[in-house]
Amino acid sequence: MSSHGVLITPRMLDEHVDRLGEKHPPIELDSVDRTVLRPDLVREQYGHVIDFMSRVELEVDRNVLELLTLLPDPGETDRHFFQDVWQPQEIAHGRILDRMQQDLGMPPSQPELERIGLNIRVLGALAHLRPIQEVARLMYYLTGAATERSAVLAYNRLSAGLERLGEKALARTAIAPIKRQEPGHFAFYRMSATAMLQQRVLAPWQLRLVRTMRKHAFQLVGVYDKQQKAQYGGIVVALGLEEDLEGYARDIGVVERDLLWAQHEGMHVPTYVLAGLRDAVEAYRERLTRLGTGPVRPA
Ligand SMILES: [Fe+2]
Ligand SMILES: [Fe+2]
Repeated sequence: MSSHGVLITPRMLDEHVDRLGEKHPPIELDSVDRTVLRPDLVREQYGHVIDFMSRVELEVDRNVLELLTLLPDPGETDRHFFQDVWQPQEIAHGRILDRMQQDLGMPPSQPELERIGLNIRVLGALAHLRPIQEVARLMYYLTGAATERSAVLAYNRLSAGLERLGEKALARTAIAPIKRQEPGHFAFYRMSATAMLQQRVLAPWQLRLVRTMRKHAFQLVGVYDKQQKAQYGGIVVALGLEEDLEGYARDIGVVERDLLWAQHEGMHVPTYVLAGLRDAVEAYRERLTRLGTGPVRPA
């Protein structure tokens, strides 16, 4: 059941979180060089990407509310991670991107801070039951891993794209520092989920429930309605991820594939992740056809 054979101990997790906090303080807004050579061009190519990502980053405060719904009594390591390390880092990412989009002449980011997903509401209602709490905790780690992995990939592509445009200041003083903080988040979720499986915290029926929920209620990060789905599809296309959608899906779903599916159905790519991505690209194309040509603009 372990993903790499290494036994994850609570101490390793603690040390990982401490290290993240020490090595990666929240990025200061003023450390960013705001020089933009061709704002119109950056806006045209990546404005919708930046806008989507600033929203997702700023929605971290809602994510904390969701977490407290799901895990009303989190363990100390989880609490330390999301409250002291993760939330302050993500908020700083969001503020940097929000300022960037305004520098590019776009309206400020509009994070949705109150809408809570159906999964969470359903689980939250039952969260005081211990077996459900355990299911919720694994769901939290798996969702987190998929989310952080998508962020890593998106920032990699975005910084490469900005470099190509010659926008070195943005690429190197904004996106590169943000991008460096995401893999540590991913590692936390991967290690935490792996540890739960290694310690056999969940009974077979609980694991089945997790599989069912991932399969039937999978959401791409930041996608809560049709418009956002089309926006996500637009990002996939703008960042050139469409050429290898399967590879992208495999990457996003790597932790759940290892932990939930590899020995179960021999699935190489969680099919629901790939389906979700295809659906988003499709929604984007439909929208293009409906609105005429040109990338989907944030509303
Ligand atoms: Fe982030
Ligand atoms: Fe992150």
